Amino acid sequence: MDGKKIGIIIVVFTVVIFLVACIVTFKGKNLLAVEAGAQQEVGQKIELEVNSEKSDIRLPVWEPSGQYVDLDKLILVNKQNPVGKDFIPKDLVRPAYRAQNRNPDDQYLTREAADALDKLACDALGEGHEIVVTTAYRSYNLQNYLYNNYVKKDGKELADKYSAQPGKSEHQTGLAVDVSSPSVNYKLVKEYGNTTEGKWLAENSWKYGFIIRYLEGQEDVTGYTYEPWHLRYVGQEAATVIKDKGITLEEYLNK
Ligand code: DAL
Ligand code: ZN
Repeated sequence: MDGKKIGIIIVVFTVVIFLVACIVTFKGKNLLAVEAGAQQEVGQKIELEVNSEKSDIRLPVWEPSGQYVDLDKLILVNKQNPVGKDFIPKDLVRPAYRAQNRNPDDQYLTREAADALDKLACDALGEGHEIVVTTAYRSYNLQNYLYNNYVKKDGKELADKYSAQPGKSEHQTGLAVDVSSPSVNYKLVKEYGNTTEGKWLAENSWKYGFIIRYLEGQEDVTGYTYEPWHLRYVGQEAATVIKDKGITLEEYLNK
């Protein structure tokens, strides 16, 4: 083979390599583009779900090791009445009215409580008050993590006044929900009780089967300081009596 032929073969070989490289790169970019598109699509779906106040998209919680409990809505969980580590309420779903700056994984309620919460939030909005879920169901492990952080920050004596120890939080029942509003920047603060939304809740939440669980002046019975944001679903019958009599859930249940 003379030098000219070798030269032609090298040129052809180089061109082929170049073309193959171009095709691979182009296809790769397309794949990346498809992937990005898919991610965007998922993101858009999530966005829609979070934004849609009337959304019916509700995802059930599923944890492989849990003992799913078909619980009584009047269940009492407090410092004297804990539940087990594996206690998970059956049929947890996410209400539609949720704060977007919080983890959606922490915004589940039992189906009945979620329906009632959505009705409450919808009616409140109709009267000009935005009331949304910040956190609701918390697993034993999440409560354990939160409680231990509070103890580190404030010491055990103070933490025990505002945070339940793991197993002793009614957030683990899926019947308790911390709500907030734009007026307090979606925070959980005592001033919430003085806002129009906080006052609306104190006045109206019983109609939807909720009580303000930790009222001012009832610390000796409930074990916790005032939390105007913490609603507990007990159903309309119990909520009506509790509101009318100004009593705690403990007193309603004679415990
Ligand atoms: N803040 C309430 C008492 C809880 O931790 O369940
Ligand atoms: Zn709470």
